[in-house]
Amino acid sequence: MSANLQKDILILAIESSCDDTAAAVIRNGKILANKVATQGIHEQYGGVVPELAGRAHQQNIIPVVDIALNNAGVTLQQLSAIAFTKGPGLIGSLMVGSSFAKSLAQSLEIPLIGIHHMEAHILAHFIDDPKPSFPFLCLTVSGGHTQIVKMNDYFDSEIIGKTIDDAAGEAFDKAAKILQLPYPGGPLIDKYAKLGNPHAYVFPQPQIPDLDYSFSGLKTSILYFLQKKMKENPNFIEDELNHLCASIQYTFVKHLMKKLILASEQTNIKEISVAGGVSANSGLRLALSEEGKNRNWNTFIPAFEYCTDNAAMIAIAAHFKFLKGEFETLQVAPFAR
Ligand code: KG4
Ligand code: ZN
Repeated sequence: MSANLQKDILILAIESSCDDTAAAVIRNGKILANKVATQGIHEQYGGVVPELAGRAHQQNIIPVVDIALNNAGVTLQQLSAIAFTKGPGLIGSLMVGSSFAKSLAQSLEIPLIGIHHMEAHILAHFIDDPKPSFPFLCLTVSGGHTQIVKMNDYFDSEIIGKTIDDAAGEAFDKAAKILQLPYPGGPLIDKYAKLGNPHAYVFPQPQIPDLDYSFSGLKTSILYFLQKKMKENPNFIEDELNHLCASIQYTFVKHLMKKLILASEQTNIKEISVAGGVSANSGLRLALSEEGKNRNWNTFIPAFEYCTDNAAMIAIAAHFKFLKGEFETLQVAPFAR
């Protein structure tokens, strides 16, 4: 019997690419449970420590999977397939999720589905209504990626723009570090930005051709600006934190939106979405919906729980792969990059 003639498609999905251990259960394309355990241990180090991330995944994976299955009211024996994140990500982190998924699939004698992490961020748009129609553009902005992706079909995409240096999330986190905020600083910049004036300080917009992005020059100009100001007033950051966050966020969001607008004009596509951790940013969400109204776009902004790393996005991508009958062999395969 072919896979898609089966009555219920019930998949357990595991995500462990970076510092979140996550499991989700999906039945026939509907999420039944979505559990994420975030590893707070990295905060004190100012960034994710790969060795510690791998160890924490090992501690978390069984409880997180148990909670997801219990919340869904599903037993292992009912599952149709196991899905996991193939990459990109930290190798030690990926190995925990992939080894767990492979062993489970093998012991249950059910198919194994490998998912590309960034593809899953984009396919998270198919969890809830309204869903975009193909072709659509997706600005994917995470800690490791910044790309404008043209989605022709679920698993048919073209990268039409990308960062030439830092990713947007990395830029937010590095700017936050300069502002002496703990890791991950992106959400904190967002929080303080809400209380500040986005035009209090002006930082230069990166001048990069085509649909590409660059954030590293911007980070350096923020650093030099602050070093100069701190000489005049050692409490400058503390005194001006809200305005600084608002101005930095405004500059980042403006750069992100400028290339997205250009991409829409060049491709003549008005189905526009955003995905990845930075899509949780309130400034970016507002800019996208306002620009969308002005330009007659259909905009798609994920629910907060599906912006940062989660397994529901792996689950929905796996559902579509299951329908296509695309499974992994249980031999050791290279990790996706
Ligand atoms: O997609 P994600 O959870 O993990 C990766 O695949 O990288 O993205 C994490 C990134 C971090 O850099 C984090 O600071 C950033 O997303 N981020 C935010 C916000 N929430 C998460 N950046 C700005 N504003 C936010 N509200
Ligand atoms: Zn991610």
